[in-house]
Amino acid sequence: MRIVFDIGGSVLVPEDPDIDFIKAMAYELVKISEDHEVAVVVGGGKVARKYIQAAKEFTPNETFKDYIGIHITRANAMLLIAALGEKAYPFIIQDFRKAWEVIQLKKIPIMGGTHPGHTTDAVAALLAEYLQADLLVVITNVDGVYDSDPKKNPNAKKLDRITVDQLVEIAMQEESKAGGSGVVDALAAKFIQRGKIKTYIVGKKDAYHLFDVIKGKHSGTIVEP
Ligand code: UTP
Repeated sequence: MRIVFDIGGSVLVPEDPDIDFIKAMAYELVKISEDHEVAVVVGGGKVARKYIQAAKEFTPNETFKDYIGIHITRANAMLLIAALGEKAYPFIIQDFRKAWEVIQLKKIPIMGGTHPGHTTDAVAALLAEYLQADLLVVITNVDGVYDSDPKKNPNAKKLDRITVDQLVEIAMQEESKAGGSGVVDALAAKFIQRGKIKTYIVGKKDAYHLFDVIKGKHSGTIVEP
């Protein structure tokens, strides 16, 4: 299989870099890459949010702030490159076509953000579409997609299996709320829909067993294209 992994910055670097988690990810990704083609996109998480917040004191320019966020995602991507060692392509990939080329070299391409105006979820969805990936695995700080926000509603129910149309609907609902922390951003959901990409959305606990996750053995949400 060709698999794209989308690792949320808030999972990789919650406050400080989660060394044990990064090590575990590197181990699992190298193991998976022995039998599959693997590409990874890394997010910015809390550090990106802190920098963007600080920049608000100096400029109202949203695009400028997006660039700051992109730099942080790339710093996180460098950490994963370091942890992956020989198996990773040593430069951060900024172009989907280059990611394809790196896969042909039997190395793992690692991306952070690319352009202002979206998040790394959208980058991962576009990468999966470009590579015609068999599977997109989104690792996020919630353990799947819920029918309402589990942080606000204790009765929120996790959805084991949804259609991509449902994912788009849920992502759009979340995005329309101020400060909404949707599990996947709406643009990414749209790209997943357009690319007809089979997607698993899982939490950090499941991510420790990525080898099982790619076989569909996880407690997250399966999104059917
Ligand atoms: P993230 O992808 O990390 O956003 O990008 P996030 O929603 O905070 O995701 P988690 O917490 O990592 O899962 C951080 C910021 O970087 C900019 C945006 O401002 C985004 O909010 N960014 C990122 C871009 O402008 N373009 C990109 O391609 C990626």
